[in-house]
Amino acid sequence: MNNVHQTSTVQSNKAEATLTNLLGAKPTLAIAALAIVKSDNLDRKIMLANATAKAWYARQLDLSTLSRPLDMPDRPGRPDNPELRPPREMPRRSSHGPRGRYALLHALAHIELNAVDMTWDLVARFAHETMPRAFFDDWVQVGLEEAKHFNLLSKRLNELDGAYGDLPAHDGLWQAAHATGHDLLARLAIVPLILEARGLDVTPSMIEKLKKAEDQASADIIEIIYRDEKRHVAFGMKWFRFMCQRANLPLEATFHKLVREHFRGPLKPPFNEAARSEAGLSPSFYKPLTAFGAVA
Ligand SMILES: [Fe+2]
Ligand SMILES: [Fe+2]
Repeated sequence: MNNVHQTSTVQSNKAEATLTNLLGAKPTLAIAALAIVKSDNLDRKIMLANATAKAWYARQLDLSTLSRPLDMPDRPGRPDNPELRPPREMPRRSSHGPRGRYALLHALAHIELNAVDMTWDLVARFAHETMPRAFFDDWVQVGLEEAKHFNLLSKRLNELDGAYGDLPAHDGLWQAAHATGHDLLARLAIVPLILEARGLDVTPSMIEKLKKAEDQASADIIEIIYRDEKRHVAFGMKWFRFMCQRANLPLEATFHKLVREHFRGPLKPPFNEAARSEAGLSPSFYKPLTAFGAVA
């Protein structure tokens, strides 16, 4: 992150120029974030995310606190492919062999693209909330890293003679996030602390599998993602805690209530307890939300 914070003045001016060229006017952070969510051209979406982060860290984008929420689209802009299907209608694929690994990388690219849209949606949608500037610093960093993750995976699919969009993908993640569009505290509970924390549980075995298949290039990408995602969960925890303390709400009870209201079904062990606690998420947060949580 230091490299972003240490952007030189020359680079900063360039970042602003790029963003102005892309959007046609000097935008605020919220307007730039909205443009990222709306873009249905993925190259432009990623370019805008990079330019917005650079301009924000160079302090050349205003937060300009909004008096009311921006009008956010129900769905992010997406190209025609991949075809989106309900999770239940996804074709079952073997996870073995080169085709299985390709399908895994494609599914991960889709998850990362959702993460790009979910993060910039959070920045734009909640720009009217009274939050410290550091809150937006953290989520702009997450938005930049999600764009990097998608880019890495998309390039890897190209190296394997494919492209993002050539397999169907499912739409469950966006819907889970969208259900919390009215409530920042609920969004923090569901996206970083449930969905991204789940990513920490399943990623180490994917890395092992890729290494075993001698696909080191893909394993290296997933290692980068794994390291960054721990920080995303930690940011979720930090701001969830901040908002609870500010409103005088009990931390764990509030988390459990919001998850039960907005997330369908119990959490599924096994949990990556080490990575979760590194991110500040202790078992007292997630264990009561498993099927046996009430008696555990
Ligand atoms: Fe990611
Ligand atoms: Fe993330």
